[in-house]
Amino acid sequence: MSIDSQADYIGLMRIGRIVGMALKLMREALRPGMTTAELDGIGAAFLQREGARGAPTLVYQFPGATCISVNDEAAHGIPSNRAIQPGDLVNIDVSAELGGYYADTGASVPVLPVTIEAQRLCDKTQIALQRAIDAARAGAKLNAIGRAIQTEAERSGYRLIRELGGHGVGRRIHEDPTVHNYFSGKDRLKLTEGLVITLEPFFTLGKGEIYTAPDGWTLRTTDRKLAAQFEHTVIITKDRPVLVTAV
Ligand code: CO
Ligand code: CO
Repeated sequence: MSIDSQADYIGLMRIGRIVGMALKLMREALRPGMTTAELDGIGAAFLQREGARGAPTLVYQFPGATCISVNDEAAHGIPSNRAIQPGDLVNIDVSAELGGYYADTGASVPVLPVTIEAQRLCDKTQIALQRAIDAARAGAKLNAIGRAIQTEAERSGYRLIRELGGHGVGRRIHEDPTVHNYFSGKDRLKLTEGLVITLEPFFTLGKGEIYTAPDGWTLRTTDRKLAAQFEHTVIITKDRPVLVTAV
């Protein structure tokens, strides 16, 4: 969507803060021994208290309020009775709706004692999100975002998961445009003031290929290597974008 009224701005910021807070609560609660379903329950309870509805369930009948993807799971992991282990890399992705507005955020969180390689993968993926934020300005082309993320991947020595990327958001959870995490000559769309998109680089220690697991949802790396993702919903402006999901 593109923000064209004060009501749009307020509505989007409200759900942005809620998903940001849900992610923060879940990150803080994360500890070895708890199951991913328990972690999801913490997010689900907060969303419900705020009157928000988890987008994965609402829109896709996904079996969880949030997506929790561990280690080689890149995205769309189903909350389950899987117990989180010391050293796991846990991606938490929270998207939800309130009053007809949607926001989407995510982060990969290493569980102690984390390996140096997992920590570095996280750090570099988070830096790539910052580079994407820096590149996302009104007047720039959409592919400036992909270029910034790809450059950071190459500099860090990691591969992108090219099939996964950002998207328009706001009135629905997934809207146009698709925001590729790599440079594409076709992405010549000019970013305009008020446009609402997600920025969400996915880096991996492996080749960057994924497949859908037999559960029909979970996207795993084919080579079983770690994947990491960080995501914010942003509003494009002439200057730095508004970080809708930062808390
Ligand atoms: Co997300
Ligand atoms: Co997203």
